Amino acid sequence: MKIAVLGGAGFIGSAFVRELNKRGIRPIVIDLLTYAGRVENLKDTDHEFVKADIRDQKLHDILREHKVEVVINFAAESHVDRSIYKPQDFVTTNVLGTINVLEAARRFNFNYVHISTDEVYGEECGDESSPLNPSSPYSASKASADLFVKAYVRTYDVKAIIVRPSNNFGPRQFPEKFVPKAIIRTLLGLHVPIYGDGKQERDWIFVEDTARIIADLLDRAEWRGEIYNITGKQRFTNLELVKLLSEVMGKEVRIKFVADRPGHDRRYCMNTSLSYQVTPLKDGLRKTYEWYLENEWWWRPLINDKFFKEDEPWKS
Ligand SMILES: NC(=O)c1ccc[n+]([C@@H]2O[C@H](COP(=O)([O-])OP(=O)(O)OC[C@H]3O[C@@H](n4cnc5c(N)ncnc54)[C@H](O)[C@@H]3O)[C@@H](O)[C@H]2O)c1
Repeated sequence: MKIAVLGGAGFIGSAFVRELNKRGIRPIVIDLLTYAGRVENLKDTDHEFVKADIRDQKLHDILREHKVEVVINFAAESHVDRSIYKPQDFVTTNVLGTINVLEAARRFNFNYVHISTDEVYGEECGDESSPLNPSSPYSASKASADLFVKAYVRTYDVKAIIVRPSNNFGPRQFPEKFVPKAIIRTLLGLHVPIYGDGKQERDWIFVEDTARIIADLLDRAEWRGEIYNITGKQRFTNLELVKLLSEVMGKEVRIKFVADRPGHDRRYCMNTSLSYQVTPLKDGLRKTYEWYLENEWWWRPLINDKFFKEDEPWKS
């Protein structure tokens, strides 16, 4: 099977490339290498790399020349705080970029896996049939893209599925996100900013589980626009997560309450129609902590990033 992984130099995309390698598949990775994409994330993997923008027409030439049969799209602007600070890139990459990939699917007839998020459902609990109710510019852009996937399936018979994972954590996650930020800031002796009262609930899943579940879907999907939620079934508040991290790290994670992020969802709470096992949260956090401890060379160059350094980085 000839597979292209868009955004394969990012956090989940690079874990997915590792999962494909385990299954004997050498994918083509197509990535623009934005601030979040790093070739270092693909160290020791077997792949062909092409630098390209999913918004660019050249993407079509690359997919045609490689005769791809399946395209998995992880390429996105993925950080909610950044979407509050500057929403425009979220529209061009997440919405227009997706439409460009869908146009390629229409032309070349490959099977398309669109990676969405649990955030499109907003705070209400539900399943794959629940309505879209996004709160942030990020989740609004993801929900818009999902609607275009549905429209292309219906109008042009594009063969596609939509996958909606919950909060991922694990090795190689950019330090702007909560778990790596908490680990790295604690290693550096800094406080960890907690938005609002810290009682927002998130549903956590270890990134290797997400990668495995998506890879399994390639065999069972019907490619008729069906939606698959991928939840870790492990809901914890941010304060509870910090407590678990302190236990795993064997040191206090020093917190500081700061202003809440505007539009902050109190919880995500989706169910899934799929059945699978996941890594227990504490075991996943331990593996994640050990990785950051052993790979300071990976995160040290990133600690001057505004979204790692500042307590309320969405403010200008
Ligand atoms: N991380 C999570 O907890 C989570 C949860 C649910 C869904 N998701 C979704 O999963 C996908 C991957 O998330 P992630 O956390 O790995 O993100 P990430 O920010 O770590 O990686 C995104 C990757 O996309 C690339 N990219 C960005 N814009 C591009 C463009 N225009 N053209 C080509 N490549 C581009 C970046 O260089 C980077 O390699 C995203 O669609 C995200 O919305 C993430």
